[in-house]
Amino acid sequence: MDPLEALVVAFWAMLPAYVPNNAAVLAGGGPPIDGGRTLGGKRLLGDGKTWRGTVVGIAAGALLAVVLNRLRPVLDPAVPAPLPEPFPATTLVALPAGAMLGDILASFVKRRLGRDRGAALPGLDQLDFVVVALALSALVAPDWFGATFEPAVLVVVLVITPILHVTTNAIAYALSLKSEPW
Ligand code: CTP
Ligand code: MG
Repeated sequence: MDPLEALVVAFWAMLPAYVPNNAAVLAGGGPPIDGGRTLGGKRLLGDGKTWRGTVVGIAAGALLAVVLNRLRPVLDPAVPAPLPEPFPATTLVALPAGAMLGDILASFVKRRLGRDRGAALPGLDQLDFVVVALALSALVAPDWFGATFEPAVLVVVLVITPILHVTTNAIAYALSLKSEPW
């Protein structure tokens, strides 16, 4: 698979896992998931993980995957590389829910490390959601996962995700949508 092809497949297949974080930033607010509970004197997750942000994030990612499935027959002949197979029904949920779960797990880890809400943890912040989104979709749709995420595509995902994450967060910060630039 040539690099351009791997880039197209990686971006297309991961879009439903990329969008939930951004949707959560826009939708966030209201009751936190942990209900204010603490563990060892620190919040379980913190005020940055809310029900509303999580539900809207998952819905946005699932909706986008449905739209991409609809667009696929139209766009496939137009793009310079074959698009991946349509998203199976299980991955419509697994990709965005995995992304949100990865982000939530990272907050759990950050609180245990004594880092307050909003503190950066380079590496974990950029890849948490991708790892869990990939793992969950591999679990629910192993055939689609195997056909889509060839080794070259996985490498591209691990390279472009941190770049996209840092860029979109910097934009969200510049637009005052987010309180920290990471
Ligand atoms: N958000 C949300 N629910 C989620 C994820 C994010 O409501 N499951 C919203 C919150 O308003 C959050 C913002 O998106 O403040 C930015 O997300 P993120 O950077 O993940 O949270 P932080 O506030 O930085 O908190 P943490 O340190 O726990 O990552
Ligand atoms: Mg953060």
